[in-house]
Amino acid sequence: MEQRKGRRLILFPLPFQGHINPMLELANILHLKGFSITIIHTNYNSLNPSSHPHFTFHSISDGLSESEASAKDILRLISLLNVKCVEPFRECLASLLSDVSEEPVACLISDAIFHFAQSVADRLKVPTVVLRTGGASSFTVFAAFPQLREKGYIPIQDSRLEEPVSEFPHLRVKDLPVLKRWESEECYQLVEGMSNGFKTSKGLIFNTFEELEEQALGKIRQHFPIPIFPIGPFHFPTASSSLPLSTEDESCITWLNSQAPKSVIYVSFGSIAAINEAQFLEIAWGLANSKQPFLWVIRPESIHGGSQWLELLPSELLENFNVRGNIVKWSPQKEVLSHPAVGVFWAHNGWNSTLESICEGVPMICMPCFTDQMVNAIYVTNIWKIGLQLEKGADRGEIERMIRRLMQEKEGEEIKARSLKLMEKANLCFKRGGSSYQSLDGLVKHILSLESFVFGTQ
Ligand code: UDX
Repeated sequence: MEQRKGRRLILFPLPFQGHINPMLELANILHLKGFSITIIHTNYNSLNPSSHPHFTFHSISDGLSESEASAKDILRLISLLNVKCVEPFRECLASLLSDVSEEPVACLISDAIFHFAQSVADRLKVPTVVLRTGGASSFTVFAAFPQLREKGYIPIQDSRLEEPVSEFPHLRVKDLPVLKRWESEECYQLVEGMSNGFKTSKGLIFNTFEELEEQALGKIRQHFPIPIFPIGPFHFPTASSSLPLSTEDESCITWLNSQAPKSVIYVSFGSIAAINEAQFLEIAWGLANSKQPFLWVIRPESIHGGSQWLELLPSELLENFNVRGNIVKWSPQKEVLSHPAVGVFWAHNGWNSTLESICEGVPMICMPCFTDQMVNAIYVTNIWKIGLQLEKGADRGEIERMIRRLMQEKEGEEIKARSLKLMEKANLCFKRGGSSYQSLDGLVKHILSLESFVFGTQ
C-alpha cells in the first residue's frame, strides 16, 4: 500500500457481473496506490459493502419496476438505466462533492456504458476518467459503427455473413459485435453515447495490456485525443477483489484436487449468455463422448426455457455426468482457471473470462454469443492463436473432435505452448517497469494533475 494521497475517487460501475468485477478490481488497485474509494451503485444488482470494508458505498435508486428489472432484454435494461439513473446519480454525486468532511474528490471513474455520467459530471465540474471494461480491439469496432452502418455491414444481412469487413481484415460480417437486436436505434444510440462520452472525458482506462492489443490501442490513440491507460489485467495485482452476485460453489475446487493435471475441461458462458435446449444437449453429449473430466457452470437461467435442465438429460448421460462431470451454478472462476487440473476453458469469450484464461495460460474453445465476444473469439483463435472456435450450432460430433484436437493432438500442444508464452507476457506487464506498471503510474499522476481543474489551484 502506497502513502495516502489525501484524495478520493468516485467509481460508478455498470451493474452487471462482467462490469462490476473489473471496476472493483480497479478500485482495489487505486486504493493500493493511496486513493480513498467511494462507490456509487444502483439498487439493481446492488453491491454488498461488507465485502469491501475499506471502500465507502452509496446506493442510488434506479427507479426500475420489478418487470423492467427482471427483463431478459439486456439492451433495453441498459438503455433504461441510462435514463432512469440520471437524476439520482446527479443528486448523489453533488452531495458527495459538497461533503467537506471527506477527502476532496479528484475525479469520477465511470463505466463507459453509463454514458450519461459524463454529462452529469461535466455539469458538476468534476473531471471524469472513463473505464471501458471490454478489450481495446472490440472497442475499435464499436467506435467504427457509424462507418460500418454507412457501408451497409450493419444491420447484418444473412447473405453477407462470410464477407470480410474491409476496415477490419480479421473480421467477417458475422464476427461484428452485434446483439441479436442490435440493429435497433436504441443500440446505435448506446454505442454512440459511449464513444461520444469519451471525447469530453480526461482519459480512458482499459483492462488490457499493451503487448496484447498494441495495434488496437494505437488506433484508439489516433482516434481519441485523450490519454489512454491500458493497465490490465486488473485482477493480477489485486488477487480476489471481485464481488460475486451469486454464491461461489467452492466444492468444485475439492473435486478439481482429485483430477489429473491438465485433464479437465472447464465450461462457463459468463453471467448473461444463455443457450437453448438443443444446444445444451449437444454440449452435454459432446462432453460425455469426449471422455474427459469436465467442470460445467450452469446458471439456473442460462438455458432458455429450461430451468429444469437435469430433466432434459437422458439417464445414460446422467450416469456419465456423475462419473466424470461436476456441475455448479457459479464457480470461483479465477481459482478454477489457476488450478493445475484445468487443461482447457470452453468459454463464451466475455472479455473478463478471456483475460483470466490468458493470464493462466489456459487454451480456449471459443463459443461467442454476442457483442464483443465475437471479436474477442477471433483474436483468441486467429491473432493470438491460443484457442479454436466452435461454429454456432456445432453438434456433439464436432464438439468431441474439437476437444480431441485441443487435448490430444499436436495442434493442441502448439496452442498450449502459445498460451503459455502469452501468459508470460501478461505476467511481466505488472512487474516493475512493465507496460501496465508504467501506464498505472501515468494514470496516478494524471489523476493527481486533474485536481487543479477541480480546485482551481492552477
Ligand atoms: C459481460 C458481457 O457478456 C461480455 O461480453 C463483456 O465482455 C463483459 O460483460 P459476462 O458475459 O458475464 O460479461 O462475461 P465475462 O466478461 O467473462 O465476465 C464474467 C465474470 O464472472 C468473470 O470475471 C468470471 O471470472 C466471473 N465468473 C463467471 C465467476 O466468477 N464464476 C462463474 O461461474 C462464471
